Amino acid sequence: MQTEIEKLKNRLLSAGSLVILTGAGVSAESGVPTFRGAGGLWQGHNPQELATPEAFEADPFLVWEWYDWRRSIISRIQPNPAHYAIAELEKRFLEFTLITQNVDGLHAQAGSRKLIELHGSIWRVQCVECGNSSENRVVPIKILPRCSCGGLLRPGVVWFGEPLPEEALFRAFEASSNAAVMLVVGTSGVVQPAASLVLRASGAGAFVAEINPEETPLSSAVDLRLAGPAGKLMPTLL
Ligand code: OAD
Repeated sequence: MQTEIEKLKNRLLSAGSLVILTGAGVSAESGVPTFRGAGGLWQGHNPQELATPEAFEADPFLVWEWYDWRRSIISRIQPNPAHYAIAELEKRFLEFTLITQNVDGLHAQAGSRKLIELHGSIWRVQCVECGNSSENRVVPIKILPRCSCGGLLRPGVVWFGEPLPEEALFRAFEASSNAAVMLVVGTSGVVQPAASLVLRASGAGAFVAEINPEETPLSSAVDLRLAGPAGKLMPTLL
């Protein structure tokens, strides 16, 4: 493991640009349950069945209850050493992009600024009628939140079956195409475009490293794997 860490550090030292792609695993050590790991179920519901426009249409209260539960967990926790190490790496590269699938806001809280939130933010809400989007940090939400136009407000996150924000997606692909090194941290890589971004970077010549305690479908496509928790491994790269 030590030689792998040294190898990656040497790559980072000579790299002109760095892209970091993160997923739920980065926040696991802060206490946010991952989507597909143990503890991912909420009251017997699979998140993949709750995070859909259809589920919200059928039962907005149930979906808000789940988001309320996630928001209350996140409001009480702090970024972990992986978030802080990523924020520190940003300061060391002129060209840097952090692409996250996480909606918890912990990267920004840790100081990351060059940040693309591909799946939106749990701290934003959007009106299903007029589309107006705004920040909302009320926890707990006791009644269904409504917009000033009267429409129902939904969490400002991307759900299964919905397109990703176009501009964010464009910037993510552009950054991946230009990366000298890409770090893929704490994502199962099974939800697009995570996998495509990794393949884009690798296809354009980037050195790609994966940091994850488990193997993923991306593992065979990367140049180097650090098997372990992000909170322990990311600070060793500084
Ligand atoms: P997943 O729950 O699919 O995967 C979490 C990954 O983190 C797994 O590969 C774990 O092995 C890894 N992991 C667990 N603990 C870790 C640790 N301490 N350090 C590093 N890695 C760790 O989460 P995502 O890949 O983020 O989308 O899932 C992608 C998207 O699917 C999410 O953004 C969400 C979900 O449905 C939406 O909500 C739209």
